[in-house]
Amino acid sequence: MADTGSDVPVFRVDSVSYRYRETVALAGISLTIDAGERVALLGANGSGKSTLLKMLDGLIFPDQGHIEVLGHELSTEALKDDGFSRMFRQQVGFVFQNSDAQLFSPSVREEIAFGPLHLGLPLEEAGRRVDDTLHIMGLEQLADRPPYNLSGGEKKKVALASVLAISPDVFLFDEPTAGLDPKTVSFLERMVLQLSDAGKTVVTATQDLELARVIADRVLVLGEDHRLAGEGPPDEVLTDRELLLDSNLIHDHSHRHDERGLEHIHPHSHLTDHGHQHG
Ligand SMILES: Nc1ncnc2c1ncn2[C@@H]1O[C@H](COP(=O)(O)OP(=O)(O)OP(=O)(O)O)[C@@H](O)[C@H]1O
Ligand SMILES: [Mg+2]
Repeated sequence: MADTGSDVPVFRVDSVSYRYRETVALAGISLTIDAGERVALLGANGSGKSTLLKMLDGLIFPDQGHIEVLGHELSTEALKDDGFSRMFRQQVGFVFQNSDAQLFSPSVREEIAFGPLHLGLPLEEAGRRVDDTLHIMGLEQLADRPPYNLSGGEKKKVALASVLAISPDVFLFDEPTAGLDPKTVSFLERMVLQLSDAGKTVVTATQDLELARVIADRVLVLGEDHRLAGEGPPDEVLTDRELLLDSNLIHDHSHRHDERGLEHIHPHSHLTDHGHQHG
């Protein structure tokens, strides 16, 4: 994967379909993601966001179509090659939606050390990375705790830290702010922007339109039919009410607007929240 810096996209997803037994998860998705982009992948529950990210991370593979990473086919076969697999794992980091599926070490410190050690960093350098990452994420107090009995938000931070410690070029975040308190959310938003300033590629699956507005320079929308329903810059996509309604990212909502008690229906979202009490 030495050909970064050229105009080869980081990911090229070509007519990809996927089902879990009978359940369709992706139906003919094509997209490209270029180096340095900050992409938000929006879609309602079950639209296929996590499935797509798992594919970009080489955890599952298309039933139809194919995926390239930096010009190389991403397939079971390709990942059997130790050199390719190692580079891929170094360059692409994935923070799962479900932290419990990600964390397995007896302590937070060991969890964060796992990636750097696995990549063969010398002990001393790995130790430095772990300390830096604990510090950046404000996790020093939790360093010796077992991840399994941390709170949900703490677990999410540890999962983020374990990926940060690998220092990949490409970050895949699946609902990274779910369960985080407001301060941690804004910390995460700043982190994404800083990673981007450092030239990293960041793909974030979320249903949070406000998060997408803050962290993305391009927004992809997965429809409930598991196809790409729209894409474009945030100020276009996030103001396209029809697209957002069709994709179930906002909903028609009944409000009592004034003392006359008139009800009417209009699209409602947190992005365009208009600060009155719901009837
Ligand atoms: N392991 C699985 N086995 C069977 N079906 C699955 C599995 N994982 C996902 N699915 C189904 O595939 C479809 C896409 O799921 P996916 O998790 O990719 O959606 P999502 O957009 O990430 O949803 P959410 O917003 O709830 O995280 C859904 O219909 C889901 O029920
Ligand atoms: Mg998901």
